[in-house]
Amino acid sequence: MPHPPLTPAELRAAVDKLPRARLAHLPTPLEEAPRFAAKIGGGVRVFVKRDDCTGLLLGGNKARHNEFLLGDAVDQGCDVVVWGAGVQSNNCRQTAAGCAKLGLECRLYLSRAHHRTEPQGNLLLDYLVGAHVEFTDAAIGPELNALLASKADDFRRAGRRPYFWHPPRVVPLSSVSYALCVAEIAEQLAARGVTPDALYVSSAGATGAGVALGKALLGWNCAARLICPMHWPWHIPTRMAEDANAAAERLGLPHRLTAADIDADESHVAPGYGHPSPGGREALKLLATTEAILLDHVYTAKALAALVADVRAGKYRPGSALVFIHTGGVPAVFAEPNAVLE
Ligand SMILES: Cc1ncc(COP(=O)(O)O)c(C=O)c1O
Repeated sequence: MPHPPLTPAELRAAVDKLPRARLAHLPTPLEEAPRFAAKIGGGVRVFVKRDDCTGLLLGGNKARHNEFLLGDAVDQGCDVVVWGAGVQSNNCRQTAAGCAKLGLECRLYLSRAHHRTEPQGNLLLDYLVGAHVEFTDAAIGPELNALLASKADDFRRAGRRPYFWHPPRVVPLSSVSYALCVAEIAEQLAARGVTPDALYVSSAGATGAGVALGKALLGWNCAARLICPMHWPWHIPTRMAEDANAAAERLGLPHRLTAADIDADESHVAPGYGHPSPGGREALKLLATTEAILLDHVYTAKALAALVADVRAGKYRPGSALVFIHTGGVPAVFAEPNAVLE
């Protein structure tokens, strides 16, 4: 027997039991994009959930995540946050911003890869909010995660109380925030009398797991298309289902997902993580020129490219309502303008 769906208010009540730092501007607007929808054809309606407007130093999905992660850090009495990802990481930028706001020391270990390390885009913002930055050659993923764990150990040995990027703890908590985002969307759509046919979001893990969980908790039948910006060395649907289930467990809810419930699409990654795709460039330009909404080339442009491709392939009937969750990432554009210019 499947568990009965929750109302948005019941979902919110479950989330309210977790420690939380109020950092984001919520609710974010849900805007219809009629000029964009007319350009892509198929008679669909497109709504943009403006999570690029969450605040916390220029917006993005990590403002929602950090309400629960930094809430957890404060709840545990931590005094230093040990975080890491790429040089142009939106995650690190918004974590650094949250730390500044909460008076926590922020230590960032940024994987150099092919990136330039001049202070531009996200990196510039990291410095401006007072994060302590070190560059590393450790690759994003298990190698960088191991480095962060060992740095956290060093801080512990020095008598500090570190909060660090430990995926089993931080990913499910981040997912909780996106289950809550789906509840927000539900209320905004209901107020307009619209039933969604599909949600689209860029996701490397936590955000997508949260969207899939939110959809399941509310008992929605619509598609939740989770568009991957990168390939991981694990089976993404299995990992996302595990993270969604760990999030449900944190919320004390009995609902569970399997890999079959996760619609993760790796077909829009090419030519590689961080590199612009032709479909992404087209989607970015279309949304900017029809709605004056800017995407980034690493994450959101590829997710919108998937929506455009699905509409053109005839996946939706005329009148279908598609919700694109804009997860931010715009500062990276200023560090790599050639990635978005023709
Ligand atoms: C702009 C943007 N969108 C989407 C994502 C994916 O988020 P998650 O890893 O939580 O699924 C990221 C995270 O790195 C991001 O910066």
